[in-house]
This record gives sequence, C-alpha cells and structure tokens, in this order.
Amino acid sequence: MSAASPNLDAEILRALLADRATPLSGELLAERLGVSRTAVWKRIALLQELGYPIVSLPHQGYRMEEALPDLLVADELEARLARPSKYGKEGIAWRAVVFRETQSTNDLALREAQGGAAAGLVVVAERQTKGRGRQGRKWHSRSGEGLWFSLVLRPRWPLGHVARLTIVAALAAAEAIESLLPPTAGKIGIKWPNDLFHDGKKLGGILTEIQADAEAIAFAVVGIGINCRQTRSDFSDDIAGIATSLKLIAGDAAPRRAELLAALLPRLEARLRDPFEDVREAWAARCFSLGRMVSVRTPSGTIQGHAVGLDEGGALLLRREGGGVVEAVTAGDVLI
Ligand code: BTN
Repeated sequence: MSAASPNLDAEILRALLADRATPLSGELLAERLGVSRTAVWKRIALLQELGYPIVSLPHQGYRMEEALPDLLVADELEARLARPSKYGKEGIAWRAVVFRETQSTNDLALREAQGGAAAGLVVVAERQTKGRGRQGRKWHSRSGEGLWFSLVLRPRWPLGHVARLTIVAALAAAEAIESLLPPTAGKIGIKWPNDLFHDGKKLGGILTEIQADAEAIAFAVVGIGINCRQTRSDFSDDIAGIATSLKLIAGDAAPRRAELLAALLPRLEARLRDPFEDVREAWAARCFSLGRMVSVRTPSGTIQGHAVGLDEGGALLLRREGGGVVEAVTAGDVLI
C-alpha cells in the first residue's frame, strides 16, 4: 500500500505560516516537498488567487504577509491542525471540509456520522441556508459573518452523560475565543446550557445532537456557531439588541475564523479528556446563571429555583423555591 501523497497546498501554507518574517526559497520548498519548483510556483499562484497575500521576493523566495484576510480554506485548517496528534494514535484525527453553502452543517455531519464517518470530521460552511438553533429556533448564518461548523464525535459515554457534551463544548469554545482576544476584551461567559456570552450579549451557541445504541452514545454531532464579523446593522431586528460578534468586541483585533477553529479543536479534545470534575469547576467559573435565582423554560413548563451547580451528567441543579428539593434539569433555557 502506498502512502497518501502530501497535500501540497496545506504543506506550503504550513511552511509559510510558520515563519512570516523570513522568505522561503522556492528551491527549498520544492526540495522539502519532493516536487519541482514549477509545481511549487503553480500552487502558490493558486493560493494567491484564493486570497492569500503571498509575496514573491526576487532572489529570496516567498513570504506570507502579516495581514491575512479572514479566509476559510480546508488546506489552511489542515496546515494549522497538529499532525500527528499530541495524544498519538489515541488522538482525534481532525479533518475539515469547507462548503461555500449548505443547509445546516449539523445536517451534513449527522448524515456523514450515520454513514460511518470517524470521529474528528469537521464540517464548516461559509453560509447556512437553514441554520438550526436549539428548540427548533432558526440560526442566522449569513455568508462570511461567522464560524459555523459541526463536529462528529464518538465518545462511548453512557446516555446519562449526554448533557456533558454541550458543557464541554461551551467551555472549550469560551476558552479558545478568550485566548485569541486582547486581554482588555474581558471574559467570555456561559449561560446554561449552551450560550456563549460577552458583556450581556449572545456571541454564540451550541447544538448537540446524538444517536445512541442500547449501552451508550454511538455518535454525537456538536454544532457550534460563533458570530464573527457582524456589525450592529448586520443583525436582524429580532436579535440586534441581544447579539454580539467578535468584531464588535475586538474590532480589528478580532481573530480570523481559521485561527479560531484551529485553537478550538485541540482545546475541545483536551477538555473531553479531562476529568468531568475539572470541567465542571472551570465551567462554573464562567457560568453566570449559577448562584442565582433563575427561571428555566423546560419542555414541561417554566420553573424557578436557585441554580446551585451541575450534576455528574451535566444537568443543571435547581433548588426549588420554598423547599430543599434539588431538581436536575436536563433540557431547557435559562431566561434572562
Ligand atoms: C443555539 O444557540 O440555539 C444553538 C446554535 C447552534 C448553531 C450552529 S451553527 C453550526 C451548526 N449548524 C446548525 O444548523 N446549527 C449549528
């Protein structure tokens, strides 16, 4: 069996992104990749066409300029994701496919998972025509405005632990976003169970869908939507007052989507491996619904209580008004 041939575009991007200051000669690149200089030159021309600001300096070589446009290209994602995984063979082999437009990345990922796709498939879209939120809500996903993607995961967790997935994903997303924002941007908070918040406004959300067999989760699709480039007027009237974006938070210092995704995936893998006790603690430190009286809209009606924490399975623990009874809520929305 012959080894798969290297993805030239990803390798060229990896090399040029690794050192933005020093030009890399075409000769050296060609030698490293085992191809001709003409082949390198042709691939570079195509990457330039995609919008990568690669400059060619006479007698020096190629260099990627500092200001990169916010492109979402599978080869760049491949270039940015560590190979091999730091967890070796046990690690998740992340691989991204990027669509210009799809109905919903969750729908696509569900279909792929049903067809047997291994854990680590990442379905990304520039635009979703039927982006879905929780509880049948619509998720606004206009072209280029956000990071809309869905992951196939296969944790063999008992069904009682399903709610953990959204908790883990929300925590990893909050941590990754915060790590790429300037420190002055402040904290990314979480509203149980799935909302990413900044300064009282919703920045993103998570939609987890699973299929289970008799014993455990068979696969999970974790869909994550993060508002990236919207200005105030880009939001429709129904959400303009309650939504925010990375651009609104950090202006020109907002991270590019490819960099955000490349930071988020390893973070998510690390959090999936962490003992849930650690996840719960870090999550609680970001969750502003905890330690307060809250109203939760559940499928069977709205209930009030003091939000005291998460149980082992990731359900919200509510101490009901007027009594010591603590109820575990697995599905619903904390109303604010
Ligand atoms: C919510 O806050 O209600 C969850 C929003 C989840 C949106 C993401 S965008 C990528 C993925 N595809 C979808 O159709 N939905 C999720």
